[in-house]
Amino acid sequence: MQSFTYLSPTEVVFGKDTQNQTAEYIRKYGGSRILLVYGGGSVVRSGLLKQVRQILEDDGLPCEEFGGAMPNPTLEHVREGIRLGLDFSADFILGIGGGSAIDTAKAIAIGCANAKTDVWDFWCRKEIPIHALPVGAILTIPAAGSETSNSSVLTNAATGSKRGLSSDLNRPRFAIMNPELTYTLPLYQVACGVTDIMMHTLDRYFNPIDNELTDAIAEALLRTVIAKGRIAIQNSQDYDAMSELMWAGSLSHNGLTGLGGPGDFAVHQLGHELSAMFGTAHGASLSTVWGSWALAVCPTKPARFARFARNVWGLQDKDENALALAGIRATVAYFSELGMPVCFGKNADIGIQSDDVLRDLAYRCSFQRSRTIGTFKVLDEEHIYEIYRQANH
Ligand code: NZQ
Ligand code: ZN
Repeated sequence: MQSFTYLSPTEVVFGKDTQNQTAEYIRKYGGSRILLVYGGGSVVRSGLLKQVRQILEDDGLPCEEFGGAMPNPTLEHVREGIRLGLDFSADFILGIGGGSAIDTAKAIAIGCANAKTDVWDFWCRKEIPIHALPVGAILTIPAAGSETSNSSVLTNAATGSKRGLSSDLNRPRFAIMNPELTYTLPLYQVACGVTDIMMHTLDRYFNPIDNELTDAIAEALLRTVIAKGRIAIQNSQDYDAMSELMWAGSLSHNGLTGLGGPGDFAVHQLGHELSAMFGTAHGASLSTVWGSWALAVCPTKPARFARFARNVWGLQDKDENALALAGIRATVAYFSELGMPVCFGKNADIGIQSDDVLRDLAYRCSFQRSRTIGTFKVLDEEHIYEIYRQANH
């Protein structure tokens, strides 16, 4: 087991009607002037935003609203939010929604606390943030895991680059998680969320080191998400299924499922370039490339994929290679069953691309040839290109 530090301090407030406790938790973590950050309007339509605002105002907490965080939230929008937060003298940022709203809230919190630095410098690693305003989250979609994670992902629309910033400053102080708040989700978003939750665990599970306890936790999480995902994509108002998915989403990305090993995260990096170039939803960007990634890296250590097939999918085969491949096929078939795209041609945002585009994607994913991705198998620009090429059908 590799050495690690593990900090997951977010106070999770889970269950029905927990949003009623929002004022109490904001006060507990020092907030007195609140910027409410939300997305494209689902929380307006569901009445959640109005309800939360009322709860805060009844408690004497002044609020300002900042909506419009779109899926794959942009730097330009974040800059606007930082200006509003500073004008309002916000001392607490509350993200209400999914990963896009919560990531926007996190970025505004860092931007407001470091007003002299352009916030993108932190996402480009030019600067390291040392302060952030406190952030809280009210989650409405089990997916990105931002409600307990240490990261925030932004897209710079001007340069077409999507970058994540990992920092413990990004950990929300509390996360309010009421599964009933997910009931208004379109089924496609449920499927994207299930895919992303699985991928946060898969991108950790496939690493070069075997760790029995961490691996067993990851496998149990995957089995649960696969089973509950099947129910949730039929009915997003199944309380039991949405509860399990919501909790799995947090555990999948708070670090727990990868402790003791170096995370791989190649599939996330491959997917980010697809979202940056084509605007495809995050979950869909991942399912589009997972199969071709898995086939490309499996020969590095088929035993790992065979264990995955056995312990997650319940498959058996005396031939280790055959078992490994069966596990990959089962995973790709599951994404298809969810209605997720499993190659470029099946992804309506992307479609079949020319070789020049594939080369450009690979060049961008290698950060203009300045990095490799992955740890299970280290992938350079040429490997990355080959994975995109294999997915281009
Ligand atoms: O914007 P609104 O109107 O709220 O609608 C959203 C959006 O259209 C909708 N939605 C959310 N809850 C709803 C709802 N619609 C009806 N009822 C509800 N209860 O669902 C759509 C997707 O929302 P979004 O916040 O974009 O989803 P998700 O949680 O998947 O977040 C995706 C973003 O998070 C980033 C992704 O890259 C992407 O930008 N990620 C963040 C991570 C992190 N901070 O740790 C890790 C992830 O790997 C990921 O990269
Ligand atoms: Zn993700």
